[in-house]
Amino acid sequence: MLESDPVLEVRGLCVRHAAREGGRPSRAALADVNLQLGAGEMVGLVGESGSGKSTLVRAVARLLPAEAGEVRVLGLNWLRLHGRALREQRRHLQLVFQDPLASLNPRMSVGEALSEPLRAFHPRMGAPERREAVAVMLERVGLSAADASRYPRLFSGGQCQRIAIARAMIAKPRILICDEPVSSLDVSIRGQILNLLLDLQRDAGTSMLFISHDLAVVRHLCRRTYVLLAGRIVDEGPTAELFARPHHPYTLELLAAAPRLGG
Ligand SMILES: Nc1ncnc2c1ncn2[C@@H]1O[C@H](COP(=O)(O)OP(=O)(O)OP(=O)(O)O)[C@@H](O)[C@H]1O
Ligand SMILES: [Mg+2]
Repeated sequence: MLESDPVLEVRGLCVRHAAREGGRPSRAALADVNLQLGAGEMVGLVGESGSGKSTLVRAVARLLPAEAGEVRVLGLNWLRLHGRALREQRRHLQLVFQDPLASLNPRMSVGEALSEPLRAFHPRMGAPERREAVAVMLERVGLSAADASRYPRLFSGGQCQRIAIARAMIAKPRILICDEPVSSLDVSIRGQILNLLLDLQRDAGTSMLFISHDLAVVRHLCRRTYVLLAGRIVDEGPTAELFARPHHPYTLELLAAAPRLGG
């Protein structure tokens, strides 16, 4: 792999959801999706509800099966990996979801949740070193070392998202995919969480795929952006250019619907 090679490259990805019970066979949820993420790059993915953004995340992370295509993570095609090989590669690509409380195990203390990736990906790390790493990471995301012994339900939504971000970043992944990471949070704290993500991304040089409904946020954070419509990428480019001169009428429509940017 060369320095300039993308850290994540999706080629011709097709996904079809199983037909819901009693329903007609479903049309493709993703059709021939191509997408690249460079080293240290922050890339946006936008599209209306139901366009397939979360399906893309889940297929890339091997949480649901793909029908065709390739998902290359640091050059390795994840769609060909299974079992232990896949588990080992997971340290390179981590996820942050929309609903932080749902993404944390209620029976696991914060310290246990953050230790888990360290146990999995750095099996030789000793317990004291792990405790130290957890304490440092908690403070890095604006919580305290003492929070390690507490359980998720004691925290606010914003704090839970900080915990989820800490858990995703603690093993230093090369790639972080954030699927609407602030949509479920209070408007008043969204900025803090976005700044935290940006800070961590810059410090660690992590590549980030950032999914959001909020085009103003995407324009602020992402150098490049992809537009997804009904399972297809219909537009892409440097964010500023794309939003100033969209190629596809759908991008124009999205922009017109965005209160702070559009027509
Ligand atoms: N498990 C499933 N079984 C069947 N169809 C599904 C399943 N999950 C999603 N879909 C369908 O796939 C399409 C894409 O859904 P997806 O959740 O990926 O959209 P999204 O862009 O993430 O939307 P949102 O912005 O609301 O999060 C939708 O038509 C949805 O109804
Ligand atoms: Mg979604």
